[in-house]
Amino acid sequence: MNTFIPSENELTGKVILVTGAGDGIGKAAAIHYAKYGATVILLGKTVKKLEAVYDEIIEAGYPQPAIIPLDLKGATQKNYRDMAATIESEFGRLDGLLQNASVLGALTPFEHILDETWDLVMKVNVTAQFQMTQALMPVLKKSPQASIVFTSSSVGRKGRCFWGTYSISKFATEGMMQVVADEYENTNIRVNCINPGATATTMRARAYPSEDQSQLKTPDEIMPTYLYLMADQSVSVNGQSLDAQSK
Ligand SMILES: NC(=O)c1ccc[n+]([C@@H]2O[C@H](COP(=O)([O-])OP(=O)(O)OC[C@H]3O[C@@H](n4cnc5c(N)ncnc54)[C@H](OP(=O)(O)O)[C@@H]3O)[C@@H](O)[C@H]2O)c1
Repeated sequence: MNTFIPSENELTGKVILVTGAGDGIGKAAAIHYAKYGATVILLGKTVKKLEAVYDEIIEAGYPQPAIIPLDLKGATQKNYRDMAATIESEFGRLDGLLQNASVLGALTPFEHILDETWDLVMKVNVTAQFQMTQALMPVLKKSPQASIVFTSSSVGRKGRCFWGTYSISKFATEGMMQVVADEYENTNIRVNCINPGATATTMRARAYPSEDQSQLKTPDEIMPTYLYLMADQSVSVNGQSLDAQSK
């Protein structure tokens, strides 16, 4: 799947929500989904970044996207339920949900993890994804074939020293994916994870400040797996944690 080549209209007619769509991997995914015909709902914290992605999609002649400005740090279940109601009234259904937005927190020894770091990372990376996914289930059920994609990490499969809260949050992501995938097995909803692997983004630069990012894959280069899991070719794939980069 990391060599997947979509057809020109692979995602035509699909409505796909991408969180963290203003930057990094989420931005690349939103633009690629639009390029292959999807109507993309751009959700993120910084409105200016979302507007820039919106403009890029319009200028390229792709389907008109929508913007949902939302800071996951302070968002409540009511925000997510209202969002689901708006999506239902505007589009009638949701075909894809890419849970991509995350924060790194601080890389520190376990004994130095601050409560506020723990609370922020768990809120954005875990609680927000749980509440949003739960609220969106009714609109995902209205799609003929819906795909939920969570974003994992290598440190969500094997713990690593100093990656504390972030690593623990990604284990929770993998667990959430497995629980929901098992529960919705044999329905119209499939649920999987992608581990992007080392990718040149702001988050990666924060984690590895002295690294030469020109040696890393760019977000655009890891898109085949992101496209595959939203395309109908992956309808029978459920409960998997895929790598976007070959080892
Ligand atoms: N890059 C890598 O090497 C790598 C490796 C493994 C896993 N990942 C995972 O891949 C995903 C994307 O990471 P990335 O590298 O693209 O990171 P990034 O460049 O830092 O982008 C993160 C995105 O999440 C959004 N976001 C952060 N906090 C938010 C909040 N409170 N509310 C709403 N949106 C928020 C950001 O919006 P603003 O820009 O507006 O803050 C941004 O659009 C994450 O889940 C990350 O854990 C990345």
